[in-house]
Amino acid sequence: MMKMPNVRLEVMQTIEKSMDKLLLKYLKPIEKNWQPSDLLPDSMSPEFFDEVNEIQELAKEMNYDLWAVLIGDTITEEALPTYETWLMDIEGVEQDGKNGWSRWVRAWTAEENRHGDLLNKYLYLSGRVNMREMEISMQHLINDGFDIGTGNDPYRNFIYTSFQELATNVSHRRVASFSKIAGNQRLAKICGIIASDEARHANAYIEFINRIIELDPGQVMLAFEDMMRKKIVMPAHFLRETGGAIGELFTHFSDAAQRIMVYTTQDYIDILESLLKQWDIEHIVDLNDSAEKARDYLMALPKRLKRISERIKIPEKQYEFKWIGI
Ligand SMILES: [Fe+2]
Ligand SMILES: [Fe+2]
Repeated sequence: MMKMPNVRLEVMQTIEKSMDKLLLKYLKPIEKNWQPSDLLPDSMSPEFFDEVNEIQELAKEMNYDLWAVLIGDTITEEALPTYETWLMDIEGVEQDGKNGWSRWVRAWTAEENRHGDLLNKYLYLSGRVNMREMEISMQHLINDGFDIGTGNDPYRNFIYTSFQELATNVSHRRVASFSKIAGNQRLAKICGIIASDEARHANAYIEFINRIIELDPGQVMLAFEDMMRKKIVMPAHFLRETGGAIGELFTHFSDAAQRIMVYTTQDYIDILESLLKQWDIEHIVDLNDSAEKARDYLMALPKRLKRISERIKIPEKQYEFKWIGI
């Protein structure tokens, strides 16, 4: 019997040939890139304590829910080991042979690692975080891992990461603009610079899927439909705090984000719409019946989600997070 060709692997190997160019286009040279210390007080400087004082005064003024979301975002960023190991397991990514895809995953991880590092140090200096509680949540989240419903399929994974990078872009960008309004310039700059990394990464994953569409459009359509039927879960959906069960805290975190409009159901719908457009799902040709049906489902989904979202009620009452000191 003839062996069936592994199309996904062939597609990954084809795109891998352009990896040098893709790395240059979407990631920054390490020594020219910003580092966390560029945005934090220098502990070797005599002004260090004055700057920390200023950070602490301004931190007190920050809205409670916004502060909770910032801590949740930090924990999400700090669970990077989970994401790197997950991506290394995708079909076509070979850590062993140090192929182009594993170079991408390492280089992306190295950039992302600065996000959690910067936010964590800022929160430590802020004087308004119960660091031990935050660290316990961080250790739990890495310990619990996640299940994003992609398996080791490159198509599903890059659809997921396209969505996620856009979602984190929205979340960090909003925290930045609310911080600016609150007069907290430093935090605005911190979240703004992280948001711009996320936007750049989103563009990379969106291009990966665009290239895959050129080679294997029908399977991308089916993968996209499958991911949207399962719903895109956030990487921190297993979030918990001391004594709490897996995932319990995530609901409170996500409610807080909805209440202050940092990340809402409408944002989820907007991201879906922007992906439909950027992948030009409407105009992909040469599809079989099931892929055509998948396209119909996807194109109708934003409207359906809008109807559902009108019925969702967000609890008005704030949840008391153990992470927040005062
Ligand atoms: Fe990030
Ligand atoms: Fe990211």
